[in-house]
Amino acid sequence: MKNTKTVVIGVTGGVAAYKALDVISRLRKEDVCVHVIMTKAASEFVNPISFQALSQNIVIHDMFDEPKAWEIQHVSLAKKADLMVVVPATANIIGKVANGIADDMLTTTIMATVAPVIFAPAMNVNMYNNKVVQGNIQKLMACGYEFISPTSGRLACGDIGQGKLAQTEDIFEIIMSKLYPIKDMLGISVLVTAGPTIAPIDPVRFITNRSTGKMGYAIAKEARDRGAVVTLISGPSNEKEPFGVTLIRINTNEEMRAAVLNKFEDSDIVVSAAAVADFKPKIYSNSKIKKGENGLTLEFVRDNDILKELGLHKKNQILVGFAAESNDLLQNAKAKLTNKNLDYIVANDITAADIGFGTEDNKVTILSKDRDPIAIAKMTKKQVAGELFSLINKKR
Ligand code: CTP
Repeated sequence: MKNTKTVVIGVTGGVAAYKALDVISRLRKEDVCVHVIMTKAASEFVNPISFQALSQNIVIHDMFDEPKAWEIQHVSLAKKADLMVVVPATANIIGKVANGIADDMLTTTIMATVAPVIFAPAMNVNMYNNKVVQGNIQKLMACGYEFISPTSGRLACGDIGQGKLAQTEDIFEIIMSKLYPIKDMLGISVLVTAGPTIAPIDPVRFITNRSTGKMGYAIAKEARDRGAVVTLISGPSNEKEPFGVTLIRINTNEEMRAAVLNKFEDSDIVVSAAAVADFKPKIYSNSKIKKGENGLTLEFVRDNDILKELGLHKKNQILVGFAAESNDLLQNAKAKLTNKNLDYIVANDITAADIGFGTEDNKVTILSKDRDPIAIAKMTKKQVAGELFSLINKKR
């Protein structure tokens, strides 16, 4: 398990203040210790009690309450912090820090810490683009402060433009990769496939499978966090596009095959987590099949086994497959490892309801050509990906 780290979250007064709650909740789920400092304006937007409940720590929100306490507190929190993140960051806090103003608990803590400080700005588009604000941001960046850029969209004031707080999921992921920076895959090209593929029957119908893409997306994110250059080839999935990853969307087996083959030669590691459809209708009907009086019989033919094809042509690439099995897990997985000429296979029991398809967690066994199977305890899919890459990287 990871050592507990401490993050100090600064919340400043903006409509997006409530979004900091989601970032904190995600961090707590990963056992990160969170302390919250709110500016006076922030506590006008969200009651500090909510932050207290989620962080499970006293929230500092009004330094003038107990001046003696904060004078000492700002140093103790500044020392405790492994990382400080201001979310959302207003033009005001950016301006204050850029100009050395330390007149409340948050600004004094930022000044007093030697931990990295990240700002996630959120404000009106014109305010964000204002030369003074941009100048302050540049100045802070030159001093080593980091920024998570706001995204574009409809802002609270009704204007459209850049100024929306970055997605809380992205902020959380950036914090996690800062806290646990294993960069053992710098410069490595990783190709990941994820999600289902679909096999069209007619213009309105298709068959597919239950894959949601969660495992493949977690693998792509883990490789990215470790410094790899990642391409993710994904079938239809509701997972959010991961930042810092090249995402190629496909629908069918044939499209996935073409995209994979196109990238294969330049890849160092290929992880095939996609649930590729093995069959497609023998005949695709160009017009919608009408229902008529009788039932419908479809004939299916075999489709490409993409991973097997990669196994036949591989040179120096490390090939990793997944084996989704409902019975004889290890035996079937071992057979696939050999038949597809893989280096590793992740065996997945799909009969358990709390792991596998659509769930947040997974419990797998990793098999490789030259060592005994390694059983991995139930953990999040991202952590499973971490175990997999740690194993691969040890041998690379
Ligand atoms: N795979 C693939 N192309 C296919 C089927 C599977 O590339 N047409 C890949 C999957 O991404 C996975 C591995 O092969 O990494 C094993 O997939 P799985 O569905 O468990 O096995 P199959 O080879 O399809 O065998 P079966 O369905 O008979 O168990």
